[in-house]
Amino acid sequence: MSPDLKISLANVGKLNPNSLEDYLKVGGFESLKKTLTQNPDEIIDQIQLSGLRGRGGAGFPSGLKQRFTYDSCHACPERYVVCNADEGEPGTYKDRIIMENDPFLLIEGILIAGYSIRGTRGFVYIRREYYDSINKVENAIKTCYEKGFLGKNILGSNFSFELETFYGAGSYLCGEELTLLESLEGKRGYPRIKPPFPAEVGLFGKPTLVNNVETFSHLPFIVREGAETYARLGTAESKGTKLFCVSGNVNKPGTYEFPMGITLRRLIFDVCEGMKEGYNFLGALLGGAAGTFVDESFLDVPLAYETLKQKGATLGSGAIMILDNKTDVKAMFQNILEFFKHESCGKCVPCRIGTTLLYEKSKSKLLESDLIWMAQEATYMAKNSLCPLGQSPDLPVKSAIKYFKNQLIES
Ligand SMILES: Cc1cc2nc3c(=O)[nH]c(=O)nc-3n(C[C@H](O)[C@H](O)[C@H](O)COP(=O)(O)O)c2cc1C
Ligand code: SF4
Repeated sequence: MSPDLKISLANVGKLNPNSLEDYLKVGGFESLKKTLTQNPDEIIDQIQLSGLRGRGGAGFPSGLKQRFTYDSCHACPERYVVCNADEGEPGTYKDRIIMENDPFLLIEGILIAGYSIRGTRGFVYIRREYYDSINKVENAIKTCYEKGFLGKNILGSNFSFELETFYGAGSYLCGEELTLLESLEGKRGYPRIKPPFPAEVGLFGKPTLVNNVETFSHLPFIVREGAETYARLGTAESKGTKLFCVSGNVNKPGTYEFPMGITLRRLIFDVCEGMKEGYNFLGALLGGAAGTFVDESFLDVPLAYETLKQKGATLGSGAIMILDNKTDVKAMFQNILEFFKHESCGKCVPCRIGTTLLYEKSKSKLLESDLIWMAQEATYMAKNSLCPLGQSPDLPVKSAIKYFKNQLIES
């Protein structure tokens, strides 16, 4: 299989995103048609076999999540699919590319997922600033209703499914799936305690499948080409392709799709055509603010969930922020901690106070003893915070200290 094979970006630049005809010409909705001839169990088996893992950051096995949702509350007449298009992780700009360029692909993926969990209704939760994404997705939804791809008895089948958009107000925490559901229910964006997980008690208490935009965009390929074909792409535990959002002083920053396992070296020096003149590679922040700092020893580590985990790092959303010899690492560190302080919802003490303490400390001239204290505080927050946001500073704080201690202390 060609390493240039694209799944999420296959049609980008090749079709008019407002044209259903264009999408149909490239085989659009053929996977949905195939799906409608099988039973939900068979579809879920295929997704499980493919090895697809969620692209929102946590990398949870997508087929298993579908299975849990399918198996939950057989008597429930209402079952929901929620597409997480909040894209709040700093440095991440991939979901918008799918929505702006190939909205019908996203809708087809949502429909396949909806059918597999016996879903009745779906929501695309899009951040409000994504005007173009909103326009493209809403236009595609409208067209799908007009042409029988949404609504009652889709394409003459017994499957009926409603789909609409919902606008997020720009809170990072509302990208977290349970907080997102609160927001979708019209409530303040405070997290829920898990368990129960959305598969059991989701939107309005009903079984709900929550997936990221990129995750949904892989379903039509898996149904069309087969799970084995998909599973041949990528690494042992990270199958398929991934969107990598490269930013920083490289010659060609951008969002690129490659099979899981591509190295940082290849991404930076080949795909992005190297560092800009006068800048030398120093390291990277992988996975956004909630991710991990890495140094040049990671240049040849395959970018995949398991390989990065073995080295204490994370792939997260696929954000790759490049650090160079002129990067003010301390300022970046401080900026991340300010971000967490700003985004903490304040509901629980360890995170409300902890994010403030970490940020305030980062503004001072740091000594080695301060870094030890910051790492301890991050551990305390990770153990005692109510939701994943309060647990998030742990990775960036400790990895920054591990790889860039000198830069943090010197300035
Ligand atoms: C603070 C926080 C913010 C998050 N923001 C997003 C987001 O913007 N988009 C997203 O898809 N997932 C986000 N997630 C992950 C979601 O909680 C959830 O794991 C994901 O939507 C599940 O979809 P997936 O299985 O397809 O990855 C966030 C998680 C946390 C803890
Ligand atoms: S961990 Fe932070 S964001 Fe989560 S509930 Fe507590 S204060 Fe709110």
